[in-house]
Amino acid sequence: MSESSANTSNINGKVAWKSPSNIAIVKYWGKYGNQLPRNTSLSFTLSNAFTITSVAYHPKESSGIDIDFTFEGSRNKAFEQRIVRFLDSIAKELPFLYDYHLEIASENSFPHSSGIASSASAMSALCMCLCDIDSQIHHKENIDIQFASHLSRLGSGSASRSVIPFFGLWGHHNDIPNSSNEYAIEMTEVHDVFRTYHDDILIVSAKEKSVSSSAGHQLMEGNVFADNRYQQANDRIIELLEILKKGDVDRFGKLAEDEALTLHALMMCSDPSYILMEPNTIEMINRIRAFRKKSSLPVYFTLDAGPNIHLLYPNHIESEVNKWINAELLELTADGKIIKDKVGNGPEKII
Ligand code: DP6
Repeated sequence: MSESSANTSNINGKVAWKSPSNIAIVKYWGKYGNQLPRNTSLSFTLSNAFTITSVAYHPKESSGIDIDFTFEGSRNKAFEQRIVRFLDSIAKELPFLYDYHLEIASENSFPHSSGIASSASAMSALCMCLCDIDSQIHHKENIDIQFASHLSRLGSGSASRSVIPFFGLWGHHNDIPNSSNEYAIEMTEVHDVFRTYHDDILIVSAKEKSVSSSAGHQLMEGNVFADNRYQQANDRIIELLEILKKGDVDRFGKLAEDEALTLHALMMCSDPSYILMEPNTIEMINRIRAFRKKSSLPVYFTLDAGPNIHLLYPNHIESEVNKWINAELLELTADGKIIKDKVGNGPEKII
């Protein structure tokens, strides 16, 4: 806890936040300038795939950014350097970063770099901590979520949506009031069926991705389909907002699948081309579609920039879906790994 003192430079303290990952239904793929998206994206925030980050802060005399960083209990130089660069880039907006030594410790509830957008939960957890420290140092009552989303975006585009409860939209859209390229906003006109939606993440491979999302975004700059893609995404946003209002789970699922396969098609026709799906990803997709046909249950999938399947379905069919996962899908995962997740309420303060 920070000591309450008028002399801000004497404050020591520690904060910790748990922040979730999110799963995009309409994908952000392509960016320009300082982390600005080429199209609007819309995701739901998760519950069980999260990062917990704690930051202890102590006043210091030396200049520049000065941190110790541990990831899952060990020093991690590569992550530390990325965080130092990030903190340097946002220090204009958070000048306290130059006045304090920060001890940052972070851990995930899931394997990093497995396509579960670990950057979204990691960057949003860190930025919630930084905003919290800023509030403590300057004796502000609340954390400004819009500012937290803006900072998170500068760390990783999709992280802007992780600080938003339930359904977050990021990127300016002419037909959506208050939408912005700078930060995400909550979409509140959402049917109840989507407020308890499931996302079971079937881990096909937990290995590091061969091409990072950042590299993938850059490849969109030379992609011949880019302009049509951005238009398509912006059109799909409007369709998705209507679906969310109405509670139409089949149109929701179809749109999610179309988006997932569009994302991976864009990777396959980049120059150089690359493929992040694995054979078991395709096999699962075939089994999902066959099960849907046979059972008439609204079970659909989406994919992030990785091989893992996100199984999307409403809460009321959970038990039938669980039985089928155990019987037909688990054998296609890496060592039976599955993260059973759900729509969530956004970041939570731990300390
Ligand atoms: C496929 O947010 O990881 O998950 O801004 O370079 O950090 P950077 O990219 P990142 O891209 C995520 C892309 C996606 C789709 C999405 O989450 O919208």
